[in-house]
Amino acid sequence: MRLGFLQMQPRFGEVDRNVDHIENALRRVRHATIVLPELVTTGYVFESRREAWDLAETRRGRSVQRLRDLARSRDLTLCFGFAERDGERVYNSAATVTPQGRVHVYRKAHLFDREKVTFDRAEKPVLRAIRGETRLGVMICFDWIFPETCRSLALSGARVILHPSNLVMPWCQQAMTTRTLENAVFAVTCNRVGTESRRGISLRFTGRSQVLDTKGRVLARAGVRGESLQIVNIDPEEAANKKINTRNHLLRDRRPDVYRTR
Ligand code: ACM
Repeated sequence: MRLGFLQMQPRFGEVDRNVDHIENALRRVRHATIVLPELVTTGYVFESRREAWDLAETRRGRSVQRLRDLARSRDLTLCFGFAERDGERVYNSAATVTPQGRVHVYRKAHLFDREKVTFDRAEKPVLRAIRGETRLGVMICFDWIFPETCRSLALSGARVILHPSNLVMPWCQQAMTTRTLENAVFAVTCNRVGTESRRGISLRFTGRSQVLDTKGRVLARAGVRGESLQIVNIDPEEAANKKINTRNHLLRDRRPDVYRTR
């Protein structure tokens, strides 16, 4: 499996231009699974919920369709963040579009900071491997700090975690090493770069997108600045083996009977 990321800097509010940019950046890529940043079609620093809703689109919207067409024509699976409108509600979502033209949408389970003001909370975010898609599982950015997110995906059979991000804190990349080790999964974190400043709010995104293997080893990593397209070859079957030694198993040795969930 060819697996990678496109680290980039979207321009706030310029949805068509951001999708043009993605099409152009991927013009030579075929037969691969590529992760893009969180909210890559719109940008991140919304001033209000209304602004997020105005820039949002449904899962049948223009950007999703354009990237679905791209995936179809080039044998790509693309996972990218977008602002999803559903009636009066607006979600921080990620779409995974496949070479067969399927569209799977995950709504972020754990909203970060001002996202609690600009987005609706997903009532039933689906933390399950995508059916029929070589065991892909999707989580978005701040989901990383809740180990249950990645664990839920691994328990449902996900072997490769796709993780669109807009990271502003410095710890995620390191933490994902542990997420991959404790679940024996591959993980692609695709972060954005650059600074977004809007009406007194300024955020600098931390880059360092990465692909990790099932032992937390870095297979590819981008820098703190600049666009970066990187693709590596992996064997997702390596993530099928959850044995630590002859007596220990990562998933079967868990003790849900003694863990607290609240
Ligand atoms: C984040 O969840 N965008 C930090």
